[in-house]
Amino acid sequence: MDYLANYDEMAPKYKKLGMLIPKKEMIKTKEQIEGIRLAGIINNKVLDEVAKYIRAGMSTLEIDNIVYNKTIELGGIPACLGYEGFPKSCCTSINDVVCHGIPSETVILKPGDIINVDCTTILNGYYADASRMFTIGDISDEAKKLIRVTKESLDLALGILKPYCRLGDIGYQIEHHVKQNGFSVVHEIGGHGVGLEFHEDPYVAHFGKRDTGLVLFPGMVFTIEPMINTKSRKVFLDASNNWTIYTMDGGLSAQVEHTVCITEDGYQILAD
Ligand code: MF3
Ligand code: CO
Ligand code: CO
Repeated sequence: MDYLANYDEMAPKYKKLGMLIPKKEMIKTKEQIEGIRLAGIINNKVLDEVAKYIRAGMSTLEIDNIVYNKTIELGGIPACLGYEGFPKSCCTSINDVVCHGIPSETVILKPGDIINVDCTTILNGYYADASRMFTIGDISDEAKKLIRVTKESLDLALGILKPYCRLGDIGYQIEHHVKQNGFSVVHEIGGHGVGLEFHEDPYVAHFGKRDTGLVLFPGMVFTIEPMINTKSRKVFLDASNNWTIYTMDGGLSAQVEHTVCITEDGYQILAD
């Protein structure tokens, strides 16, 4: 069924049960979702290109050049470039950088580093947002475990996605798994609706209680992008650029991000 018609039919039922329901603006049409999926295909190819060339000795500015050039070559636009004044085409976040690292000629990848590259592509006005972890040379066992647990936490969240599940279920899955492994979840930054704009409602917390929060309807498109730290979850903002977020205690941080949509019987990954 048409997602908007389905919303009209089902929203009153959940509302009557006293549950928090999304605004109709949060429901996308199948045509819009197809547009986001096509943007996601390009975004995935851009991240594949990064995977192909990333290596020790490379600067994060060189990664940015790969992202910019591949995105343009494939007919897309890098959404990060100029977004609220962000100066580059992607975020490159190394080791204790939680997110929003700014690509730079002076930041050189070295053996043992872990790095998140976060790209968002605009195609025909549609946005798709995803990030991946990359490892440079041999990394520590702790870093390996961090990346594994971060990916597992996202997979566990995906595992419960289906129509009419709750936003709190996503956060619960992530934080429960992370805590069981002795790591911590960053609370200050979350996932978000995406598709017609870069950041839309709802806000997707990576912690929460089961069976609480917004009810997720078919046609909702959003990111899940847990940021996981080896030590404390506390973070600080780099006041010199007002973008980059670091772990307070210097512990390692990892992140993975997918753009997903709720379908009539489950979910679909639109960018990863
Ligand atoms: N891609 C990031 C996210 O996952 C946002 C980066 S904003 C930028 O939401 F301006 F830093 F690019
Ligand atoms: Co995002
Ligand atoms: Co992103």
